[in-house]
Amino acid sequence: MGLVSKLLQLITFIGVLILFGMVVAAAVAAAQARPGCNHKCGDVEIPFPFGLSKDCYLNDNQSFNITCDGSGPKAAGRNLIVKNISIEAHEMHVLKNVAQDCYLESGALIPESTGNSHLDVAPFTISKTRNQFTVVGCDTYAFLRGRGYQNGENFSTGCASECSSLRNTLNGSCSAVGCCKAQFPDGLQNIEIQVHSFNNHTGKWNFNPCGYAFVVEKGKFNFSTNYLKNLPHKMLPMVLDWAIGNETCEEAKKKPNFACRNKNSICHVPETRSGYRCKCEPGYQGNPYLPDGCQDIDECDDAIRTHNCSTGCVNTPGGYTCRCPKWYHGNGTKDHGGCDADFVIIIRIVIGAGVGFISLLVLSSCFSFVFLCVSVLFLV
Ligand SMILES: *[C@@H]1O[C@H](CO)[C@@H](O)[C@H](O)[C@H]1NC(C)=O
Ligand SMILES: *[C@@H]1O[C@H](CO)[C@@H](O)[C@H](O)[C@H]1NC(C)=O
Ligand SMILES: *[C@@H]1O[C@H](CO)[C@@H](O)[C@H](O)[C@H]1NC(C)=O
Ligand SMILES: *[C@@H]1O[C@H](CO)[C@@H](O)[C@H](O)[C@H]1NC(C)=O
Ligand SMILES: *[C@@H]1O[C@H](CO)[C@@H](O)[C@H](O)[C@H]1NC(C)=O
Ligand SMILES: *[C@@H]1O[C@H](CO)[C@@H](O)[C@H](O)[C@H]1NC(C)=O
Ligand SMILES: *[C@@H]1O[C@H](CO)[C@@H](O)[C@H](O)[C@H]1NC(C)=O
Ligand SMILES: *[C@@H]1O[C@H](CO)[C@@H](O)[C@H](O)[C@H]1NC(C)=O
Ligand SMILES: *[C@@H]1O[C@H](CO)[C@@H](O)[C@H](O)[C@H]1NC(C)=O
Ligand SMILES: *[C@@H]1O[C@H](CO)[C@@H](O)[C@H](O)[C@H]1NC(C)=O
Repeated sequence: MGLVSKLLQLITFIGVLILFGMVVAAAVAAAQARPGCNHKCGDVEIPFPFGLSKDCYLNDNQSFNITCDGSGPKAAGRNLIVKNISIEAHEMHVLKNVAQDCYLESGALIPESTGNSHLDVAPFTISKTRNQFTVVGCDTYAFLRGRGYQNGENFSTGCASECSSLRNTLNGSCSAVGCCKAQFPDGLQNIEIQVHSFNNHTGKWNFNPCGYAFVVEKGKFNFSTNYLKNLPHKMLPMVLDWAIGNETCEEAKKKPNFACRNKNSICHVPETRSGYRCKCEPGYQGNPYLPDGCQDIDECDDAIRTHNCSTGCVNTPGGYTCRCPKWYHGNGTKDHGGCDADFVIIIRIVIGAGVGFISLLVLSSCFSFVFLCVSVLFLV
């Protein structure tokens, strides 16, 4: 008996494992490439609408054409090194080189450090909220000049940092001595960074021979006083935003190549740039750009635990309902009273209890009566 129940438990456990594995596999598959297309370049996942060959990326003026060679994935036919692509956040993580302005002890400029860096990320845009323009140096000022997507408008910002020694420099803080940062607006596509020195690092050369400037993902650069002597990073991560084309949802819907035509996929317009984006309807998850990419979320799955049912969760396409057990009724959700016993069952219980009580009373009185009679008889 014990052995049989143990065996049953084991079988159930294995069944649950297999089911769980299938759910995980489905979730992973949902974030990937078009069927039959290579979904990886090196370690980097390349999800649709991005792709590595014709018919594998969305046909949108080469925006999503990723080239893959020995040195990893590159975007938009340019030397833009891709580290990560996110479908849900509509972000692309790339590496951006550091502009540097370095001098010899004599005050002469080291020729290969031109102090200039130019980058064109179109049709992507540089995320304002996820990046920061950062300048490191003690005799340094730098500009970030950019052209945005809106009317090709020009923008310029910058900051300066001067210090005469390493005293008062603070590790981890880029708002004190030796490091400064500046904000820039959303939508920039074409940027130029220039680093200059006030005085060729004269008198500062022994602790700070270079100035550096770069756009870096927030949280991915911690200033260290050691960087004034030598910044080891040649490239730093930067976050780009992407969208489809340059039209609104209404305009794009009329076109045959509208990207959000798939099942349970909806169109929305980003606040920070032109073009439109697809996302899965509420209750669905996955890649909204693939025909069956948006898959139902099983809210009843105990591993997710997003449902509010007190008992009896039932998964439905795009949602779930709560079911009360037999003889119970109500909303079924924890925060709306759960389930109450039916009126009928209460009556039944009351009647049942009543009948039982009366029978017991009758029976016991009967017993006492019989006992009395027998006692009287015995006495007589
Ligand atoms: C994708 O971009 C690369 C680099 O610019 C180019 O050589 C290739 O022809 C493009 N692929 C297609 C299918 O156009
Ligand atoms: C890529 O981005 C996704 C979503 O933002 C994140 O979950 C994942 O950890 C990232 N992968 C790498 C290698 O950075
Ligand atoms: C700084 O260097 C530049 C270029 O090497 C040179 O023309 C200039 O005279 C130098 N200025 C000072 C103050 O040393
Ligand atoms: C922005 O700058 C570029 C290059 O300097 C120039 O060609 C363009 O006309 C400028 N755009 C506007 C709107 O001023
Ligand atoms: C900052 O940290 C580095 C090591 O990461 C250390 O060598 C240096 O002395 C520290 N500077 C200050 C001012 O604490
Ligand atoms: C920067 O410092 C914070 C807090 O000390 C740490 O959590 C983070 O991982 C550091 N980032 C890098 C890129 O070193
Ligand atoms: C691609 O470019 C052509 C001409 O440059 C333009 O007419 C078309 O609208 C563009 N397509 C998208 C999806 O932006
Ligand atoms: C979209 O881009 C195409 C070319 O890439 C251009 O001709 C068209 O004017 C743009 N439309 C809008 C609304 O910016
Ligand atoms: C479940 O209840 C919590 C608090 O009672 C609420 O914050 C949450 O939105 C509810 N979730 C759903 C799916 O109704
Ligand atoms: C429970 O009540 C909430 C709030 O009135 C409602 O949104 C929800 O649909 C109800 N659920 C069921 C299963 O009736």
